[in-house]
Amino acid sequence: MRLTGIAGTSLLLSGYMKFGNNEMKRYKGSAQPEVKLRKTDFGPDFIWGVAAAAYQTEGGWNADGKSESNWDHFAHKSGNIERNENADVATDFYHRYAEDIELIRKMNFRNFRFSLAWSRILPNGTGEPNRAGLDFYHKVIDKCFECGIEPWITIYHWDMPQVLEEAGGWTNREIIGWFSEYVELVTREFGAKVKNWMVMNEQLSFVGGGYLWGNMAPGKKSVSGFMKAAHHSVLCNAEGGRIVRRNVQGANVGTTFFTAYIEPVDQQKKNIRAAERVNAGINRMFIEPLLGMGYPEKSLSVLSKIRKYFEPGDEERIVFDFDFIGVQYYFRAVVESSMIPWIRAREVSATERIVESNSMGFEMYPEGLTRILKQFAQYLQIKKLLVTENGTCVPDVLKDGRIADRRRKLYFKRHLAALLQAKQEGVNVDGYFVWSPTDNFEWDKGFRTRFGLVHVDFQTQERTIKDSGLWFQKFLK
Ligand code: FCB
Repeated sequence: MRLTGIAGTSLLLSGYMKFGNNEMKRYKGSAQPEVKLRKTDFGPDFIWGVAAAAYQTEGGWNADGKSESNWDHFAHKSGNIERNENADVATDFYHRYAEDIELIRKMNFRNFRFSLAWSRILPNGTGEPNRAGLDFYHKVIDKCFECGIEPWITIYHWDMPQVLEEAGGWTNREIIGWFSEYVELVTREFGAKVKNWMVMNEQLSFVGGGYLWGNMAPGKKSVSGFMKAAHHSVLCNAEGGRIVRRNVQGANVGTTFFTAYIEPVDQQKKNIRAAERVNAGINRMFIEPLLGMGYPEKSLSVLSKIRKYFEPGDEERIVFDFDFIGVQYYFRAVVESSMIPWIRAREVSATERIVESNSMGFEMYPEGLTRILKQFAQYLQIKKLLVTENGTCVPDVLKDGRIADRRRKLYFKRHLAALLQAKQEGVNVDGYFVWSPTDNFEWDKGFRTRFGLVHVDFQTQERTIKDSGLWFQKFLK
């Protein structure tokens, strides 16, 4: 697993594993049968979209009244990001949003998921809003409509004003008030136009990466900080859902979770138990309290520490019935029992198992998507699932104006087939968002790992649709 956006999850398993550029060098192409798919197999109402996030694309980090965010701050400190890169400019979406939304249309997607930068909207965290920041998102939303694209707003995709981070960020219970004020403001501002909302992106990633493993902003490493931040994020997730529902007439409100399909390395009891602990930490910890089931302490006893941070009424406050749950899936993790504190498990990486992996060391394992969807479908409280992120990073070569990204194309076909399999087995999964329309800034990995359907030359900002993007263009026609 990776020490980055997708979770820094590995460190839940191990404090010291290193995942790097362990690309499978000898990958010779597909040993798999060609996957035949038709758009109509997914049904007429299936939602086809692409997903991106503010910090990874916008740039304009201090433009027009935007304040410094925790991610600006973190990336500006030497040693936090590969090659000391930062997203001050990123893909310059702040200035090139029109071109990028047109590219999304060109590839025949009709839904665009993007996030709002809190520091652009409320530079002081709370209080006086920044009109220029709000206007920027109006322009993005209007451009979507002009292109026949439905906007899907993620309210929180990991960046918060640095002033709030300095006041403790997610570890400070005051965040409930700060976050609610932000959600009130954006839902009142955009709610008349935008109906599709997601409160959060992957709590595990920003809570774990930010406060336990330290590979994400703000780079802290403490078990108690993690527990506090986790509980406050769970409270804010539900609170945010309530605010969206109250303020947005006809809202379709959801939230998204990091997932990984977890398997024990073999059938020994100790490894099966290790897999149960990891599954609880990765796939269950944030969703189960929301569904009224509490934290999965029985499977991962360290989670009982969260109780210390409960206040009267929290048990009810952390529950909310979202219209949909966003599942984000990238890979399978195979684990075995180990001495690592709390989790007592470690990942047996894709490299160790000698299976195909991408530029971040993630195994390509489409069956995991079918299984994780089925796992989530077992929660009867969930009305509907959407795959709100799925994608892969492989080293792209721009040659004669073309990127022949065969592996990425295959990745998508196989994961779509896996989704369809879950759908055919009765899972109510209604949409699929590709991560990501363009290459962008991949958190602590910087610009090395490219996930886009569109190649971006980060020197010139030139965009080129990759073969995978052209494949979607045809497929979605
Ligand atoms: C997910 C994040 C997203 C991006 C992808 C590759 O975990 O939500 O921002 O980094 O991974």
